[in-house]
Amino acid sequence: MHTAKQAKQHAKHAMTGNGHGQHGGADFEIDVRALRERAREHLDDGAVTEDYRADRDAVVHMLNDALATELVCVLRYKRHHFMATGIHAEPVAAEFAEHAAQEQDHADRIAARIVQLGGEPDFSPDSLSSRSHAEYVTGNNLRDMIRENLVAERIAIESYREMIHYLGDRDTTTRRMLEEILAVEEEHADDMRDLLDRE
Ligand SMILES: [Fe+2]
Ligand SMILES: [Fe+2]
Repeated sequence: MHTAKQAKQHAKHAMTGNGHGQHGGADFEIDVRALRERAREHLDDGAVTEDYRADRDAVVHMLNDALATELVCVLRYKRHHFMATGIHAEPVAAEFAEHAAQEQDHADRIAARIVQLGGEPDFSPDSLSSRSHAEYVTGNNLRDMIRENLVAERIAIESYREMIHYLGDRDTTTRRMLEEILAVEEEHADDMRDLLDRE
């Protein structure tokens, strides 16, 4: 009998498998009956099947810290958006608002994935800043704010890269989501650096 792991190894060699057919290639074979039986067991686990190879609790914990980070980033960008004043303030304030909305989108995606993994998203305001990787710094002026956001983005970039590295190929859905978020954080950091240069 083929296990899912063996099937995956076959797939690696064959490189022709489409992942959901019975005959993806000469060397690619899925034990469909075993796969169907496994799918019928543990229905409470929803999207998490028996071949899920990551440590689910660890991934949920990791994602909750990322969620806290995103929420703190939303709050920081919101604060900066409303507090941005001065001659160059308007386009910068608009940029802060755009980033706040994108951080909120990241938070939503992470929370949804936590639920998909059978966990609970932690939105508790009491522990938010202690769980967040990035800090909530108000900043005294426009330049301060931009610099603080750049610092926070660089922290986010590094922590997402570490999470992606940790997941490897054990949970590719979560990894893909984190890779997409990482790409946006890199754009954010780039935006902040551009603004610093212009100031
Ligand atoms: Fe984000
Ligand atoms: Fe960001």
